[in-house]
Amino acid sequence: MNIDLTGRTALVTGSTQGIGLAIATGLARAGARVGVNGRNAERVEKAAAEVGGFPVVADVVAGADEALPDVDILINNFGIFESRPALEITDEEWRRYFDANVLSAVRLTRAYLPGMMTRGWGRVQYIASDSAVTTPSEMIHYGMSKTALLAVSRGFAKEAAGTGVTVNSVIAGPTHTGGVEEFVHSLVGRDLPWEEAQREFMRLHRPHSLIQRLIEPEEIANMVTYLASPLASATTGGALRVDGGYVDAILP
Ligand SMILES: NC(=O)c1ccc[n+]([C@@H]2O[C@H](COP(=O)([O-])OP(=O)(O)OC[C@H]3O[C@@H](n4cnc5c(N)ncnc54)[C@H](OP(=O)(O)O)[C@@H]3O)[C@@H](O)[C@H]2O)c1
Repeated sequence: MNIDLTGRTALVTGSTQGIGLAIATGLARAGARVGVNGRNAERVEKAAAEVGGFPVVADVVAGADEALPDVDILINNFGIFESRPALEITDEEWRRYFDANVLSAVRLTRAYLPGMMTRGWGRVQYIASDSAVTTPSEMIHYGMSKTALLAVSRGFAKEAAGTGVTVNSVIAGPTHTGGVEEFVHSLVGRDLPWEEAQREFMRLHRPHSLIQRLIEPEEIANMVTYLASPLASATTGGALRVDGGYVDAILP
């Protein structure tokens, strides 16, 4: 398969590091002009140079509709997450998660989808999580926001029916991003070398994973890049899993 995004412009929210950076890199390698986004100008410039894209310094929670005139590919990757005991999540926190993880993506979709529909081609994606369908008890507010994204994705796919624009979500599983190594070592001991620590972490704390290792950000980027391509023209309104088999279900 030849994935060619030459002539397409993309925006990847929250892409100065982690999964977003890998997605921006994947899209750029396939030939797209990629807007690399974050709030910190220095980090954005550095990541954009690394990717070979262009900088989009904007806080997407505050509203970044004006950041780019138009895009063909919108990847709503940005999201916040932290654990909190269920009964201690305040009204304010529930709203913060909705604003950050759901409304920021809805707002960008509202800004860019009409142009894609008029031009007759476009791709919108939402980076969801296994938490969208498993609801972790230690972060219900995060799970709720990712479940909401699946609904938002399905809904906007219907809005774009018959236009040549596809809208999908990608369910990412436990991923090897910054900070995760420290987290793993804190749970299984600091003396173990990384590979062994990872194996022990998966065995004890992520036994449902069928690959029994963390997912590399590039593996999520591969799915996103394929979905963004003309090759994926018949896949819309779906939730595609890159979860290492973590979600114990046949369908998402
Ligand atoms: N990591 C995992 O294991 C995992 C698993 C499943 C799903 N996911 C999902 O994958 C996505 C990416 O996760 P990640 O772990 O790769 O993220 P991350 O490492 O926390 O990176 C967050 C990115 O967002 C940017 N950012 C933060 N606040 C922003 C704002 N208000 N406006 C624009 N950009 C902002 C950050 O840059 P600045 O600080 O410079 O702004 C950074 O580039 C999230 O939606 C997450 O829920 C992650």
